[in-house]
Amino acid sequence: MSDKKKILVTGGSGYIGSHTCVALMEAGYDVVVIDNLSNSEPWVMDRVGEICGRKPEFCEMDLQDREGVRKFFSEHKGLDGVIHFAASKAVGDSVANPLKYYRNNLGSLVNLLEGVLENGIQSMVFSSSCTVYGQPDELPVTEDAPIKRAESPYGNTKQISEEILADTQEACPNLQVIALRYFNPIGAHSSARIGELPRGVPDNLIPYVTQTAAGLRDKLRVFGSDYATRDGSCIRDYIHVMDLAEAHVVAMDRLLNHWNSEPMEVFNLGTGTGVSVLEVIASFEKVSGRKLAYEITTRRPGDIEQVWADTRRANEVLGWTAKRSLDDALASAWRWECALRGIEGN
Ligand code: WQD
Repeated sequence: MSDKKKILVTGGSGYIGSHTCVALMEAGYDVVVIDNLSNSEPWVMDRVGEICGRKPEFCEMDLQDREGVRKFFSEHKGLDGVIHFAASKAVGDSVANPLKYYRNNLGSLVNLLEGVLENGIQSMVFSSSCTVYGQPDELPVTEDAPIKRAESPYGNTKQISEEILADTQEACPNLQVIALRYFNPIGAHSSARIGELPRGVPDNLIPYVTQTAAGLRDKLRVFGSDYATRDGSCIRDYIHVMDLAEAHVVAMDRLLNHWNSEPMEVFNLGTGTGVSVLEVIASFEKVSGRKLAYEITTRRPGDIEQVWADTRRANEVLGWTAKRSLDDALASAWRWECALRGIEGN
């Protein structure tokens, strides 16, 4: 009988989920993964096992299946905590198909919470997003910044999910939740065996950059250079996915080792530094040794101008700070792309 704490990771074969599984197992936790493989590949769990020397237990299932969730929990007693990643996350697709996002992201959360409460699980970490802030009035943005009307149904599901969790924690004192608001996760594990796996044409900047450099795309379109920023392109807070993964371990440690605190705790997970699109390109060209083909085009609808995190609460309360630089993250993203495509990097 293992004396290791056992954590359920929903969406654990996804981008941030798989990196968090690695960080959890390397910290001594046992891991069980639920994933419906709608936006990830079955071999990702094998890769996690390769990196850690042991594989998480894996259950292919959809959290929208209420009876299936009940059955899962009846067969998996003794879980100490849950980290919930499983959700649809494509902003543009959510505008075109809002009901798919409300049904999946909110229905899955409610089914999961029923299982958590029925099985006496007291610790839950939730994957939230800086998208809940919209365009903040003040920068850097703190966790106490006003939550504005979401820019997309996807962002709205994150806001509503946080409310569902806060209300459930208030009604069920034994449940303690931490919501982690990610800024822009980028990069890949140093082994280049796991990383971001966008399907089709990437929406996000970094996979589009690395696919362009790898010759899969002819050039990157920079969406606008007429913003009121230092070089006219949008500014974001890009955080290495392994820094993000390690923050989930710290948050779970806190939940398992501390008394309850009211209300639900919320933490920004960023580097605290804003970087423009053009600065990302310059950094990528430096670390990859490749010239990136790009052109400036019109703004992308829905983009906010600039956002970066005030990370003092995570630094002081969690004792966590992002350690890796933008160059580290972009170099790891490039190594991952090269490994995926079987090409020699720099
Ligand atoms: C970053 C910057 C684009 C692609 C999204 C979600 C957010 C979160 C992170 C889940 C922007 C520019 C991009 C391209 C470009 N996801 N860009 N050319 O939009 O900040 O955040 O992903 O939680 O919820 O909204 O990330 O990577 O799409 O864009 O110029 O081909 O890069 O305009 O300024 P974004 P992104």
